Amino acid sequence: MGIAAAARRFAAEDAGASADDGVAAVADPLQDWRLREQPYYQPVGDEVEAFSAAAALRLPVLLKGPTGCGKTRFVEHMAWRLGRPLITVACHEDMTAGDLVGRWLLDADGTRWQDGLLTLAARHGAICYLDEIAEARADTTVVVHPLADTRRALPLEQRNELLHAHDGFLLVVSCNPAYQGLHKQLKPSLRQRFCALDFDYPDAGHETRIVAHEGGVDEALARRLVDLGRRTRRLKADGLEEGASTRMLIHAAALIRQGLPARRACRLAMVGALTDEPDLAAALHEAVAACFTAGE
Ligand SMILES: Nc1ncnc2c1ncn2[C@@H]1O[C@H](COP(=O)(O)OP(=O)(O)OP(=O)(O)O)[C@@H](O)[C@H]1O
Ligand SMILES: [Mg+2]
Repeated sequence: MGIAAAARRFAAEDAGASADDGVAAVADPLQDWRLREQPYYQPVGDEVEAFSAAAALRLPVLLKGPTGCGKTRFVEHMAWRLGRPLITVACHEDMTAGDLVGRWLLDADGTRWQDGLLTLAARHGAICYLDEIAEARADTTVVVHPLADTRRALPLEQRNELLHAHDGFLLVVSCNPAYQGLHKQLKPSLRQRFCALDFDYPDAGHETRIVAHEGGVDEALARRLVDLGRRTRRLKADGLEEGASTRMLIHAAALIRQGLPARRACRLAMVGALTDEPDLAAALHEAVAACFTAGE
């Protein structure tokens, strides 16, 4: 089934969707996670086609790449294209399997089951995006294993229920390989369930268009900001942990549009946020000065 046909079918199913099996009935349980408008996304390679192929086969997808390079925007865009709601979970060390799967709650009327966000997505057919999955503990993420293979099922042990995932359910996770020390490696038993898409900062042409669009500036200014971004990325060789992300370049563009002088905007958006180390900060100031004159 093509993407457009799948989107139409899911929309029709959603219109008639109802809750089942004692789970509190809500008119549209995914209402909060539906995208209201198409997220702008500038493809930089074949990632749209690759993701679409994996989604058609219901294969889970791992997005790998540095901070601020477009992973979240991409998954939002794909959710829109596929006509699926998007449930994003920011993973962290203290997250428990119960947070993902759900739990019994006690209220005035007795006990009531509340689906966790992963269960909600699997039950009703959303894309579940586990952001920075390597931040979660391995004993938490193990709950996705049966959902991320051909079983596409989630055992809800506390409810004595084996939930078979909705046809529209997709699992997408992200990680930033640069942050993965030994203790934050994804186990092979988890990562080998996923197709992996590599992301990086876009080439200069694409990044210029993105910065111009998102920062609301003309392409000539965006190109100069992109040039500055590329200079900062080269400073990784001198010990800078990460160069300026596309996100940072957009912030600088927006600050210039707001009326700040270009050098001030770049320093505000980038220098302090990139480093506390005086030598590296000085090198970043120099890069800014090389790209923008004092009067601009
Ligand atoms: N290809 C792209 N098309 C459109 N916008 C993009 C693209 N790449 C990056 N952006 C812009 O850069 C911003 C940052 O991207 P995004 O939030 O998707 O990064 P990320 O990879 O999810 O970062 P993090 O790992 O920190 O969560 C987006 O809000 C968007 O404005
Ligand atoms: Mg993100």
